[in-house]
Amino acid sequence: MDSETILELKNLKKYYPVLGGVLRREVNTVKALDGVNLQIKRGECLGIVGESGCGKTTTSKALIRLHPVTSGSIFFHPKGKEPVDIAKMSPRQIKKEGLRHRLQMVFQDPTTSMNPRMLVKNIIAEPIAEQENLSARQMEERVVELLNLVGLNKDHLFRYPHEFSGGQRQRIAVARAIATHPDVLVLDEPTSALDVSVQAQILNLLQQLRKKLGLTYLFVTHHLLVVKYISDRIAVMYLGKVVELSKTEQLFTATRHPYTWALLSGIPSTELEESRSRVLLEGDVPSPLSPPPGCRFHTRCPFAVEICHHMEPPLDEISADHFVACHRSHETAKLFAEYRADQQP
Ligand SMILES: Nc1ncnc2c1ncn2[C@@H]1O[C@H](COP(=O)(O)OP(=O)(O)OP(=O)(O)O)[C@@H](O)[C@H]1O
Ligand code: SF4
Ligand SMILES: [Mg+2]
Repeated sequence: MDSETILELKNLKKYYPVLGGVLRREVNTVKALDGVNLQIKRGECLGIVGESGCGKTTTSKALIRLHPVTSGSIFFHPKGKEPVDIAKMSPRQIKKEGLRHRLQMVFQDPTTSMNPRMLVKNIIAEPIAEQENLSARQMEERVVELLNLVGLNKDHLFRYPHEFSGGQRQRIAVARAIATHPDVLVLDEPTSALDVSVQAQILNLLQQLRKKLGLTYLFVTHHLLVVKYISDRIAVMYLGKVVELSKTEQLFTATRHPYTWALLSGIPSTELEESRSRVLLEGDVPSPLSPPPGCRFHTRCPFAVEICHHMEPPLDEISADHFVACHRSHETAKLFAEYRADQQP
């Protein structure tokens, strides 16, 4: 792992048992993450996109160890210290090393992470108190400082979460998340529940905070234009795997994976520089209970050939910083152009 990398996921798997029968035995397994490989660079915003159920939230929760993983590694590289494998640590070790404070998360619905009976002052002070011993006055000053950072002020200290709008509540959640000076913020659909105008304000705030505080973001969303706006690089997930990873611009202009290409074709052409006809994928996303063998996209891919049915394509670096998991990545640009030409009336 080079010094630029802050987090590295290696062959990460998370399987959920499906229980059944009177004895509640494990009768099946949901392969929510099935060998995810990913590097997150210090100071970047890495976006993760993909359809519902592809494993975005499972990845987010695994990263901050909200749940244990089945196998694989999550190397965290704190500045000036030896890397640690979070995936192998017990909850006790994680607490002892203060990792909860280094890696923080903001959820789509801030009310899930806020006690409705707590004042804003205490919601934000809680994680600080776990880390530092401040006097009441010092603590209030710190909380006001944090409120100012997220565009709120001291008038909001003695109010309850329900007294705020959705956008303001998300600001409070961000203030709480940055209160412990974390290295990494994992943001899972942080703007998806907000009105469009408020979404833009929160995205701008997040951009400013990242620069000001030198934070690293993992930004999860199903919204392609949001991820395009905020991310330096983007990872596209399909059925528990990363299928394409590249710099944001490259992903949109030099797409190489057929799934990414189909996903991007769904963006209205008024939002893009070039117009594209929509690629309609056939069939539903297969169940993660029994992902297809070979390339797991082969059941829907218009370019699948024999090898795709039985051999899983590795995530290869096809050009600098551009990773693709497709047997035909060397020729997909041509295949996309031919497909489009065939679609012309
Ligand atoms: N606690 C759980 N028990 C069993 N299966 C689960 C559990 N949590 C998630 N899953 C399954 O794991 C898969 C990945 O779910 P995940 O929530 O990570 O998807 P997602 O990409 O975040 O989707 P969305 O866009 O809908 O939020 C899905 O098939 C989901 O049903
Ligand atoms: S490996 Fe085959 S099925 Fe999978 S995306 Fe590439 S062409 Fe399609
Ligand atoms: Mg999710």
